[in-house]
Amino acid sequence: MTHRILFVCLGNICRSPAAEGAFRARAPHHATDSAGTSGWHIGAPPYGPMQMAALSRGIQLEDLRARQFVPADFDRFDLIIGMDADNIADIEALRPAGNETPVRPLTDFAPHIGADHVPDPYYTRDFDGALDLIEAAVEGLDAHLRN
Ligand code: 4NP
Repeated sequence: MTHRILFVCLGNICRSPAAEGAFRARAPHHATDSAGTSGWHIGAPPYGPMQMAALSRGIQLEDLRARQFVPADFDRFDLIIGMDADNIADIEALRPAGNETPVRPLTDFAPHIGADHVPDPYYTRDFDGALDLIEAAVEGLDAHLRN
């Protein structure tokens, strides 16, 4: 079954495009997109160091372009996935009345890691650490969607 999955972070240039690319590489039959809660980088490709770190794992991000999350996304996707609690609060603030689309933290899908958010590598500079967590979680997400 095909699911429509939206990954969301703050800038849509580091964590959510990495999650989009990693999930698409693993599960290309789903309809996958990403967005930022901010409009700071609209139209920009993923951040160079994240592109490089992802490419070293065989994940291509270069064709992605940042866009801002909009309320209509609640109707366009079956599942919306945020990278941290701020993302989820900013997403929930835009939920249309009556909409029941689930919004979940990505880390829910990698409970064995014990993290409650994906630290932002734009600030931590730990691109590989973020990708380790993202790859584990999209593997868990893929398994979840098969059930
Ligand atoms: P992201 O990281 O939310 O994972 O895309 C960020 C990228 C840029 C900024 C913040 C977070 N920024 O402040 O420009």
